[in-house]
Amino acid sequence: MTCESSSVRKAWETNARWWSDRFGEGNDFHLQLVAPPVERLLDIAPEARVLDIACGNGAFSRRLADLGAQVTAFDFSFPFIECARELSSAHAERIRYHVTDATRESDLLALGTGSFDAAVSNMALMDMSDISVLASCLPKLLKPGGRFVFSIMHPCFNNPDSRLCMEHEDREGKLRITRSVKAVRYLTSYSAQGIGIPGQPVPQTYFHRSLQDLLAPFLAAGFAITGLEETAFRENADARHVLSWDHYPEIPPVLAVRMERGT
Ligand SMILES: C[S@@+](CC[C@H](N)C(=O)[O-])C[C@H]1O[C@@H](n2cnc3c(N)ncnc32)[C@H](O)[C@@H]1O
Repeated sequence: MTCESSSVRKAWETNARWWSDRFGEGNDFHLQLVAPPVERLLDIAPEARVLDIACGNGAFSRRLADLGAQVTAFDFSFPFIECARELSSAHAERIRYHVTDATRESDLLALGTGSFDAAVSNMALMDMSDISVLASCLPKLLKPGGRFVFSIMHPCFNNPDSRLCMEHEDREGKLRITRSVKAVRYLTSYSAQGIGIPGQPVPQTYFHRSLQDLLAPFLAAGFAITGLEETAFRENADARHVLSWDHYPEIPPVLAVRMERGT
């Protein structure tokens, strides 16, 4: 494990149980913006063998199992895998969990070469210190024609340095509120500390990559993009926070992408 991945992992070990308790079977972000597009893009067939990469507490693995998949799921945070196993007792026949670091080639290949009909990674690529190893291993892990679907914080609108803005103006006697997202930096990759769920014990490390840097290792590994969805909340006037994503129905905080290699 690289030094960087090891320090990133420590934060996820500290946060895992707290995060799992808050997240449960999915928060609004996951249930409304992540799971639906990812399930559409995956289009899982019954008994498909699916690899869930960086599975956290296994909420999506359980959804996959309920859809009839046979799931191999992993995360590099042992406490997260403990939570996942505890929460998955009713799915024990359909899900196998492993503690595996997605930045280590030998660990990834040990999951089973040529084994998977599909692989999925939800809201995790921006948490990985390196994605090139995963990108080069996926063609070996997938069966010919297998698909890889990922969801991620949208790098254009929801990156560690983007700012949610609100303007309030009196326009010829009418009060008007305009919300926008301010992009401060985008092209150059960088890492930054951030908060996934307010109140979490310690910050996590985000690894911002522009779309070209995010996709480049997968394109170099022979993948082509065959599906893409950008999801935003519907306007919710009752949202608790004036700068909640609920007030930005035209700006997607989540990007979901399907990639496939030719057979
Ligand atoms: C925001 S959570 C998402 C968890 C889950 N996929 C979900 O949608 O609920 C990010 C996850 O990525 C995991 N992670 C980050 N870097 C990783 C790596 N190099 N190898 C494996 N897991 C990693 C973290 O431990 C954490 O569980």
